[in-house]
Amino acid sequence: MANPFYKRDVLSLKDFKREDLELLFSTTDKLTEMKYRERVSLGEGRILGIMFFEPSTRTRLSFESAMASIGGTSVGFSETKTTSIEKGESFADTVRIVEANSDVVVLRHPMEGSARFASEISLKPIVSGGTGTEEHPTQAMLDLYTIYKEKGRIDGLRICIVGDLKYGRTVYSLIYALSKYDVKVDLVSPPILKIRREATYNLEKIAGKDKSIEITERESLKSVLHEVDVVYVTRIQRERFPDEQEYEKVRGSYYLDAELAGMMKSDAIVMHPLPRLDEIRPDLDATPHARYFKQVQYGRNVRAALLSLILNS
Ligand code: NCD
Repeated sequence: MANPFYKRDVLSLKDFKREDLELLFSTTDKLTEMKYRERVSLGEGRILGIMFFEPSTRTRLSFESAMASIGGTSVGFSETKTTSIEKGESFADTVRIVEANSDVVVLRHPMEGSARFASEISLKPIVSGGTGTEEHPTQAMLDLYTIYKEKGRIDGLRICIVGDLKYGRTVYSLIYALSKYDVKVDLVSPPILKIRREATYNLEKIAGKDKSIEITERESLKSVLHEVDVVYVTRIQRERFPDEQEYEKVRGSYYLDAELAGMMKSDAIVMHPLPRLDEIRPDLDATPHARYFKQVQYGRNVRAALLSLILNS
């Protein structure tokens, strides 16, 4: 199979087919097993440009660590205060400078559409590290890989996504990714944090002709907890609320702890893109359901595989 990621932008999960994701997963498996010498030859002498206009711990660390693990290096910035943006340089010029100094660029930005705009300017591939409330494609890639590794399959599973479905960008990428599989998805949120229609509208087109995903919206987590195989919890995206009062209405409105997890199937897993605040209580960490830190470990290898596929034909 030709490598569909070679020199390609990674902006949206809508742009990738199920077989593309499967190639990414098998490459991740191979890479994880690879001897050091072989692994570092994949990115040797290559440079990842980092352009982060929003706070990040995981995504930036994960990309830098992934690039180093295939023998490459990273350059760039993770806050704009130390860059010429402070002097008034435009976004477009900043993209030109970073791409001229690297082989592939990862961009995080508070505005929807910014990664697509950057990709129109840049000759080098742009990978979105999360844009506004829109999408966070590499997070969904590692989320799916985690499900595949921890549950042994994706088809046939029942997956509950709970929390801030309105502003949480990881949720959109995850739904677009899951739409390519035969899964049941329960979307659980307070009414004002329900999924935006754009995620479920036209899902046939995103999923392809054999769409088999089934989506149900609910308000109560307890009503489905005993039936699901995966619970994917998200943080309330306080920084994206138009005002504080709206946030106050939903603050602390859902959580999962060890006691609630006791209602789940014994082999059900709990995931979270992190950072978590109080929506997953610390007492859940020691239960056999917790997979959110394992997700981080898988994430580095999935990103290393993605970068090596983008860089090598
Ligand atoms: C997420 C994000 O930035 O969208 N974090 C991450 O990259 N793992 C989720 C969040 O901030 O809640």
